[in-house]
Amino acid sequence: MSTIRTYEDATQLANGAAEHIVSLAREAIAQRGRFSIALSGGTTPKLLYARLAEVDIASQVDWSHVYVFWGDERAVPPDHADSNYRMACEQLLNHVFVPEHNVYRMSGEEVPLAAASEYEELLRTFFSSDTPEGAPPLARFDLILLGLGMDGHTASLFPGSPLLVENERWVKADHVDKLNMWRLSLTAVAINQARNVMFLVSGKDKAARLRQVLYGLYKPNLVPAQLIRPQQGRLFFMIDKDAAGEL
Ligand code: 6PG
Repeated sequence: MSTIRTYEDATQLANGAAEHIVSLAREAIAQRGRFSIALSGGTTPKLLYARLAEVDIASQVDWSHVYVFWGDERAVPPDHADSNYRMACEQLLNHVFVPEHNVYRMSGEEVPLAAASEYEELLRTFFSSDTPEGAPPLARFDLILLGLGMDGHTASLFPGSPLLVENERWVKADHVDKLNMWRLSLTAVAINQARNVMFLVSGKDKAARLRQVLYGLYKPNLVPAQLIRPQQGRLFFMIDKDAAGEL
């Protein structure tokens, strides 16, 4: 079951998403003493991250209890123009007081397969405290942010990727042939264990694909975003009117 919230434009979408994230963060910190968020890359979240950094919003969150992760990363160094980590720092993390040791970036500069294994171990350690004694750990992120590519990908889960059928690992590396680029990504297994998953979708060019994700035949190999169905979590589609144009 998913919740769709439609906003007038990209700016209102960023504002609405920011307000919702503040409420999720305050709830998580009050209940469990921490808020774990996995950030998305791409361009759509930029407005959201900048909005979260604005004092009237940022002042509502105790950032010292926020733990920052990424849903995916390009296999590039952290200072590279394509780095999702760099974009998040420029738009948000350089402007709020998240302790450095609470920021867990994917090592895009390392050998992808090794970086994926390293991140998986890091996540399993981080979430082990969330899991009852003896139970298998769950990637219980409080929130995972996702975008939607025009080809139906999300995070770095691309059509036809072997990652789409991964049913154990939480983090994998994949060479995305059409981009000629290695990517690191959470798998759907991990994403679907989150407490909250929030898609951010903006623009007319996403409208047809969004309709397919929400109402089309279930073809996850072609439309990987359809894999995202949190087992014990809430799924939100935060969209603007342009993206909602074919719903
Ligand atoms: C990335 C993102 C990717 C993105 C979509 C949508 O690393 O690029 O994680 O999944 O969310 O490609 O990107 P836009 O928001 O730029 O349309």
